[in-house]
Amino acid sequence: MLWILLTPADINYNESTWVLKMTAVKIVLIVLGAMLGWQVLVRLIRRLHHAPAPAFIGRGLDSDLRRWMQPADKIIERSGIKPGMTVMDLGCGSGAFTLSVAQAVGEQGRVYAVDIQPAMLRQLERKLARPENESIRNIELTQASAGALPFPDASFDLVYMVTVLQEIPDKGQALREITRVLRPGGLLAVSEFLPDPDYPRRSTTIKIGERHGFILDAALGNLWNYTVRFRKP
Ligand SMILES: C[S@@+](CC[C@H](N)C(=O)[O-])C[C@H]1O[C@@H](n2cnc3c(N)ncnc32)[C@H](O)[C@@H]1O
Repeated sequence: MLWILLTPADINYNESTWVLKMTAVKIVLIVLGAMLGWQVLVRLIRRLHHAPAPAFIGRGLDSDLRRWMQPADKIIERSGIKPGMTVMDLGCGSGAFTLSVAQAVGEQGRVYAVDIQPAMLRQLERKLARPENESIRNIELTQASAGALPFPDASFDLVYMVTVLQEIPDKGQALREITRVLRPGGLLAVSEFLPDPDYPRRSTTIKIGERHGFILDAALGNLWNYTVRFRKP
């Protein structure tokens, strides 16, 4: 975009075009600066005050804009979610991806939506209660911490987490619990998204998973929006 805006002056311009171009450049720089400033500020606050993402952001998380930036079909494909699977949406929040995953696993599959905050689960509950969603019957909501999952051993084919892992203070305990509830060969998919203030680099996510005994299955996507998929040995 900047390349177009900064086309050399001698090609074809008059003064008003130049002023217009410079104004556009200024607007782009101001927007980028504001985004960067916001990111720095929120990241600083998150470092000083470690807590789950507040429930009031649930509406933003479950917005069309968010899903446009982080499409559900990409999360599903990269995570390896297939029809018939029993899946856990760990740290489901307001359910930005839960309903799409429920459709992807189909009637033979099941989705357990788990979150530590009842206020997040209530938002998902309200969404499920809408008339257009009443045919979706394969989602079960559970309030629990990732560090103490109320499910039997080897009961899941796949656990996926979207912008959650870095929010969990004791990642080791959470990953031990995920290992316990996954069947042998089961998958753990960790998706991260750059605008999230807790965003870790892909290499950091890979290291955490491997350190806790998972085998790297695939690392997909780009810097902005990636999924790392692990397999339980
Ligand atoms: C940034 S939100 C992401 C929500 C959802 N995955 C999404 O992408 O829209 C992180 C969610 O993880 C949940 N969470 C944080 N720590 C958790 C824990 N220890 N156990 C379970 N859920 C947790 C928060 O309550 C919050 O709903």
